[in-house]
Amino acid sequence: MNAYPKVFSPLSVKHMTLKNRLVMPPMGTNYGEQSGELSFLHLAYYEQRAAGGIGLIIVENASVYSPQGSNGTTQIRIDHDNYLPRLFYLCEIVHKYGASIAVQINHAGASAVESRTGMQPVSASDIPTKTGSPAPRPMTREEIDLVVKKYGEAAKRAVTAGFDAVEVHAGHSYLISQFLSPLTNKRKDEFGGSSENRARFAKMVMEEVRRQVGPSFPILLRISADELVPGGNTLEDMLDLLKYFEKEADIIDVSAGLNSSIQYQIDSGHLEDGWRSYMAKAVKERYGKPTMTTGNIRGPKVAERILEDGDADLIGIGRGLIADPELPNKAKYGREDEIRKCISCNIGCAGHRIALNRPVRCTVNPMVNVWEDYKKQRIEGICNVVVIGGGTAGLEAACTAAEVGCSTYLIEKKGALGGLAAEISKIPDKRRIADFPAYLEYRAKKLRNLIAFTNTEATPDFVDKLKPDIIVNATGSSPLMPPIDGLKENIDKGRVYSILRMISEQESFGNDLKGKKVVVVGGGAVGLDVVEFFAPRGADVTIVEMLPEIGKDLDPVSKVRMTEIFEENNVAERTGTALTRVDSDKFVVKNRDGELEELNFDYGFVCLGMKSSSPHLTKIEERFASQGVEFISIGDAVRARRIIEGVSEGRNILNVLHKLGRLKERN
Ligand SMILES: Cc1cc2nc3c(=O)[nH]c(=O)nc-3n(C[C@H](O)[C@H](O)[C@H](O)COP(=O)(O)O)c2cc1C
Ligand code: SF4
Repeated sequence: MNAYPKVFSPLSVKHMTLKNRLVMPPMGTNYGEQSGELSFLHLAYYEQRAAGGIGLIIVENASVYSPQGSNGTTQIRIDHDNYLPRLFYLCEIVHKYGASIAVQINHAGASAVESRTGMQPVSASDIPTKTGSPAPRPMTREEIDLVVKKYGEAAKRAVTAGFDAVEVHAGHSYLISQFLSPLTNKRKDEFGGSSENRARFAKMVMEEVRRQVGPSFPILLRISADELVPGGNTLEDMLDLLKYFEKEADIIDVSAGLNSSIQYQIDSGHLEDGWRSYMAKAVKERYGKPTMTTGNIRGPKVAERILEDGDADLIGIGRGLIADPELPNKAKYGREDEIRKCISCNIGCAGHRIALNRPVRCTVNPMVNVWEDYKKQRIEGICNVVVIGGGTAGLEAACTAAEVGCSTYLIEKKGALGGLAAEISKIPDKRRIADFPAYLEYRAKKLRNLIAFTNTEATPDFVDKLKPDIIVNATGSSPLMPPIDGLKENIDKGRVYSILRMISEQESFGNDLKGKKVVVVGGGAVGLDVVEFFAPRGADVTIVEMLPEIGKDLDPVSKVRMTEIFEENNVAERTGTALTRVDSDKFVVKNRDGELEELNFDYGFVCLGMKSSSPHLTKIEERFASQGVEFISIGDAVRARRIIEGVSEGRNILNVLHKLGRLKERN
């Protein structure tokens, strides 16, 4: 019997029967064509997830009315019959694998971006959904009627295209949510004020969608059950509001959060797996309808528990499926240990999609929309690959090389693999990161042609014994120590810490740090990890950053989470401020007015970034250059960056093998 009987049991809703309870919730990808058409990348991306065993795919939010209601850089559209052929093609592909498919229909309202659409956005009132965005224009009654009609037309197209269901997006700061939320709806007419009035637009949309799709076609309704913003709808408010517009919904997809609480919508890593299933439970108890819950669910155990507890009937796994399209099949067929779990870093997915206008990528999955066809290839003859450095980049390169048949040797000077990622994951709120090195190690262990040496220096003599054809330099990075007065003398002594010492000694700090002064120099991701550790433990934290902004390169979810931590814990921000001297108990800094100031501390942290570190590089290059050995550097050994770049470069070992003419298709 399957270990997860509830997860892998079917569910019928109207004419749709789902083969299991796992759902890929809608996630914008930026893979769309500029025209709004689904691209061939989309087809491959969704096909992989269907092939991986998911029960239902809800395709990312599609615009019901463009450009006015469009969202994202290249959002897909469903507002014209032109889009039908490719939508049909997608449904056809997904159905081949026994998966069901729905599409989320949406109007972005005030969340549409004027510079992209070329017009002022519309909304319930004139209140932007993102700080700093231009004010939208309140919709007239005629416009409301028109947009309601557009939702209906879009839903009808979904039926024609062959979808099994349609989802109406009524959450996440988009148009319907803008009407529902008292934060963005200040109307004085029949669409504003009371709950019934604020729910009127949602009700009109749901009724129109039903009229267009007919009585037996399933409609999902996605809501932000708790907006989790002061003054916004609470769970209780939403339970009440729902009575006005839930009637036509067959499944309630219970999400959470608005733009300003996005850390609860695209859940931050510190939140437990499935932490918000209580919201789905409350909706289910009140309305007796099937519900779906989502949020940091990364494996079948949590999914099974939620279903067993009766909190929800369907389990959304979003980023988990970006990270590993095969998650459902691995869970079902006893390969759970092989799941490449999402680490909730939000860098490749939300970071790309929302902040950078890039297509979705993934830190742990270097091939989000490309089939892992490389495994069908095989090395010709003997090819010895020596990878120096057992961090995530080195592990990825070593596993990939071994998977295509190279005799692969991984050399790590420390006693454990995983590198900086494994170190950072020891910070409690970063614990999810540990899943990635653990996955890589598991993958490496299963490869009999991959031998890992730990506690081993990659000296030229040692490498020589392995008769390398290719050497991969993946030695990573170490903390950057610029020539600042007193830094060298004091770092990692007494009260002055680098990130690595902070991690190794974190237990000594205890959990109650009230009255302790902590000063963190460096407002990048690493400095913020230190703040995230100390601020909630009651320490009096100051962060110093030379640039005008803290967390400049953070993904949007981590940015909002950072603001929350700063506000809740009164973290003092000193931007435009540079470190000039390090003493054993204080930093001397030059503030933005050019004045020198002393910042005393009980614990001082210097997090000025990382720099590449390749101690044996020159000696190894010298030794092997004349022997025709191919040599590449990857990851932080090239330049200190994030895991995502290192992993992608690790997979690029395939390109080196191609270049050398060594890879052939398996017969
Ligand atoms: C890149 C990205 C795009 C998303 N786009 C949508 C969207 O189009 N519609 C929507 O309702 N939710 C969207 N979401 C939210 C997800 O559907 C999901 O609720 C969220 O990621 C939490 O689930 P997870 O922890 O399983 O990823 C998006 C999330 C991500 C990461
Ligand atoms: S980029 Fe990070 S958060 Fe996004 S799917 Fe990949 S591992 Fe998960």
